[in-house]
Amino acid sequence: MPEGPLPEGPGAGGEDAGKADRTRRRVLWSLPAGLYVVGTRHGERRHAMTASWVTQLATEPKLIGVGVEREALTLRLVREGGVFSVCTVAREDRALVRKFVKPPVYDSAGRTLNGCAVHEEVTGAPVLDAAVAWLDCRLERLVDFGSHTLMAGVVEAAGFQAAEDTPVLRMEDTRMNYGG
Ligand SMILES: Cc1cc2nc3c(=O)[nH]c(=O)nc-3n(C[C@H](O)[C@H](O)[C@H](O)COP(=O)(O)O)c2cc1C
Repeated sequence: MPEGPLPEGPGAGGEDAGKADRTRRRVLWSLPAGLYVVGTRHGERRHAMTASWVTQLATEPKLIGVGVEREALTLRLVREGGVFSVCTVAREDRALVRKFVKPPVYDSAGRTLNGCAVHEEVTGAPVLDAAVAWLDCRLERLVDFGSHTLMAGVVEAAGFQAAEDTPVLRMEDTRMNYGG
């Protein structure tokens, strides 16, 4: 059953508002989404986080957008370093994304992030050795939207590290949700 329109403004609330709010959240969760690991770098600092709000924004230039929490370390490093990578992950490697929902430890000697081997491509942002494919992006623009900031980057390089038809992880393959 439809729920809405959603009540707005001071005084809005009550049981109906709560129900409409929960429905809105579930609809937002039901939007098909991928799951990615977004790598960032500033100087010698390397970092990666799990993200689902990743999408292509334009074809000319080839632009990728990622919605990042205002407080995320990723955002700070992208602001300072101006680069980020986006990795897809094999469906059978789903444990990988759990490693990057908290700030990872970078081991510069072993070149690992939370024990996962990483390397660089063109921009210097870390790319997971275990990724199925990667996009290496240079920051074009940051747009603040309250809780999250859209970071838009031009794709400077891209590649596959596994067979192109390897099934990649999507939100629906997990029991996780984000946003809503
Ligand atoms: C399934 C899932 C999807 C997520 N998607 C995003 C996302 O698209 N954007 C975001 O900012 N945080 C997302 N997160 C949260 C970040 O992975 C987590 O807050 C991360 O530690 C924040 O990044 P930081 O290490 O750069 O501070 C997601 C978490 C999970 C579990």
